[in-house]
Amino acid sequence: METIRRMESNVRSYSRSFPVVFERSKNSFLFDNKGKRYIDFFAGAGTLNYGHNNEMMKEKIIDYLKNDGIIHGLDMATVAKTNLLNKLENIIFKPRNLDYKVQFTGPTGTNAVEAALKLARMIKKRSNIISFTNGYHGLTMGSMSVTANAYYRDQAFIDRSDVSFLPFDGYFGKDTDTVTYIRRFLEDNSSGVEIPSAMIVETVQGEGGIHVASDEWLRGIEAICRELDILLIIDDIQVGNGRTGYFFSFEKSGVKPDIVTLSKSFAGYGLPLSVVLFKRDLDIWKPGQHTGTFRGNNLAFVSAAAALDYWKDDSFSKEIFRKGKIMEARLENIKGKYPELNAEVRGRGFVYGLAVSPAEQAKKIAKECFKNKLILELAGADNDVIKFLAPLTITDEVLTEGLNILEKSIDNVLKDSK
Ligand SMILES: Cc1ncc(COP(=O)(O)O)c(C=O)c1O
Repeated sequence: METIRRMESNVRSYSRSFPVVFERSKNSFLFDNKGKRYIDFFAGAGTLNYGHNNEMMKEKIIDYLKNDGIIHGLDMATVAKTNLLNKLENIIFKPRNLDYKVQFTGPTGTNAVEAALKLARMIKKRSNIISFTNGYHGLTMGSMSVTANAYYRDQAFIDRSDVSFLPFDGYFGKDTDTVTYIRRFLEDNSSGVEIPSAMIVETVQGEGGIHVASDEWLRGIEAICRELDILLIIDDIQVGNGRTGYFFSFEKSGVKPDIVTLSKSFAGYGLPLSVVLFKRDLDIWKPGQHTGTFRGNNLAFVSAAAALDYWKDDSFSKEIFRKGKIMEARLENIKGKYPELNAEVRGRGFVYGLAVSPAEQAKKIAKECFKNKLILELAGADNDVIKFLAPLTITDEVLTEGLNILEKSIDNVLKDSK
């Protein structure tokens, strides 16, 4: 840790929350350099849906390396890329009646968001984009401009004149239908909000505090987009790739986004890989108009293709829902047992949050969990939400062990504060 403190910029964050040196990992366990075992309810912020060092993917990666398979290829055609695209088409798109073109962008999520925003503006020839309260889309200039939380944004002094924020589902509480509010703003040309080229939406706001949009709300947003000729971008970077129990988080709602961004768990193994998917007729890119050196992470193509095998039938999906129910029941139980938390349980599939108040309690609980060898992260504007993103491949036994640690840690924190 001394080297990290001496050499790494102040911008580092997770090494502050988890101040040990990690060495190895397996499925839902991390091990530090002293051999201590931690349960991972964080999974690389949603990057390790298929667990750490997934055996099936590891084998494919090792074989590929042994064979001297192409590693870097810009956007050249390769066997690994072709295999991934074929599987994406056959296992994911066709059964869902989707017909998307695939754009490989730079390796990280924000690269996909940047490309999606640029494409939408090019198509509609309008500068405005609508984003939502508590939305998080990354931290390069374009994606930061559609990110709501001021902590990440305000001191960057960026130009956000091309973005309007409107209220997400539930922003004013259960009784206010924000679709009606949004519609009014967009239909009234004296509201001050310009018709945008696109709306960018997370179906479950991950960083923003596990705010879940209802299917009805998503359909309402889609209807506005269709009526007013606005593109609908679903940012599925955090809650796509199975996190909600479906491969795409929007599947349950029946919404058919024009553009989708995927990253994080898309490559399965924690390798960087991002894509933008869009309806065929939106592919107005000219060759090379949006490039980047690292659009061809072929090793990630190999693991991403392997990850898609989980989706050949619905057994994985069923398992995710089953584990989600265990998680939800336990969190509801904790909420009932500890009224002092003023808790609210949020989530669906296998992405959950426990919002507590006052917010400092969340920080204390996360710290105590770490002390008891459970790793989890906070979310929400005030870091008031304890976020649960365990690998989807976690065993029931480890899930229960982690939840026991959570409960014990809450108990300790509440006792201490009495
Ligand atoms: C919904 C969403 N979009 C975009 C991003 C940005 O991805 P990255 O950090 O890989 O740039 C994130 C990261 O947490 C995210 O949750």
